[in-house]
Amino acid sequence: MTGEESSLDSASAAVQILREGGIVGLPTETVYGLAADALNPMACARIFEAKGRPLADPLIVHVPDISWITRLGVTNLLVDRLAAAFWPGPLTIVIPRNQTVPDIVTGGQNTVAVRMSAHPVFASIIGAFGGPLAAPSANRFGRISPTSAEHVMQELGSRIPLVVDGGPCAHGIESTIIQIVENKIQILRSGPISSEALGLYGEVQSPASNTPVTPGSMKSHYAPRTPMEVLSVAAVAEMNMTARVGCGLLLPRPNDSLSAGFSSVEVLSASGDPVEMATHLFAAMRRLDASELERILAIPVLGDGIEIAIMERLYKASAHE
Ligand code: TXA
Ligand code: MG
Repeated sequence: MTGEESSLDSASAAVQILREGGIVGLPTETVYGLAADALNPMACARIFEAKGRPLADPLIVHVPDISWITRLGVTNLLVDRLAAAFWPGPLTIVIPRNQTVPDIVTGGQNTVAVRMSAHPVFASIIGAFGGPLAAPSANRFGRISPTSAEHVMQELGSRIPLVVDGGPCAHGIESTIIQIVENKIQILRSGPISSEALGLYGEVQSPASNTPVTPGSMKSHYAPRTPMEVLSVAAVAEMNMTARVGCGLLLPRPNDSLSAGFSSVEVLSASGDPVEMATHLFAAMRRLDASELERILAIPVLGDGIEIAIMERLYKASAHE
């Protein structure tokens, strides 16, 4: 069987499992998701069970097409313009929900988070399924989000019947989440769609740092098992060679003099491209986490585009609580 045939087969198997109320790992352009029929509360309950996720942490609902948004919740002119501009793509919009959406999806809140994925495999599966799919990232709760089918197998392989392999994720970090409050665009989670891009459509309010806004943005998140810390270039440069043994270094771009003596080094982008850094971030964290290190040190990424989203992940992965 060719790779293409097997992914076609697994796509139709995925649709079948979803119709029967099961859960499947699916590729999206951001990270892999763990999908279930969003309108079937029992199916959604299986997501929480497989991830070990608290029920108070609501799920994102993925729609087959833009017209579905008004069946799930209430829009306004700004929401409609943002959806038209950025969908399909890595933008999640939180809107007032209507009663079609099961309580388990929204954690009992009166809002629902909605997005439309641009991944061709996801799009064809949700198109064939013909309804909305709830899908959080396909990792155990609090752990590093998966950016390949293999990562999903590592996280949840024994707990789910199928992962559809759609290759590595294009963005590598989760969608930007926004909510419209008093006609302003509030960023609840930074992501591939920058505040600058959103600013073309309205006034943007970025999150005050360290304020948990979405329930899932409690501090420790995306976390490797190995203790991780964000350290400045200057602080790392001061470490002597003995102190570097047993430590992993996560570098945004190559830095040979800084790398010397570390037990393991991951460089996110050889050319220093921040989009490429985001794409490689979670896979690099996962490799370091698998390298039996005592500590992982991450060098900050400076900039005000997708760099903000990368930093948000680094800080959460380093948080202790
Ligand atoms: O890119 C993505 O968004 C990926 C892919 C699979 O689509 N999904 C994803 O889902 O990152 P998850 O569950 O790992 O993160 C969703 C975040 C959680 O922090 C959750 O608390 C928040 O969205 N969220 C969901 N519904 C919400 C709501 N009604 N209001 C505020 N935050 C909400
Ligand atoms: Mg997640």
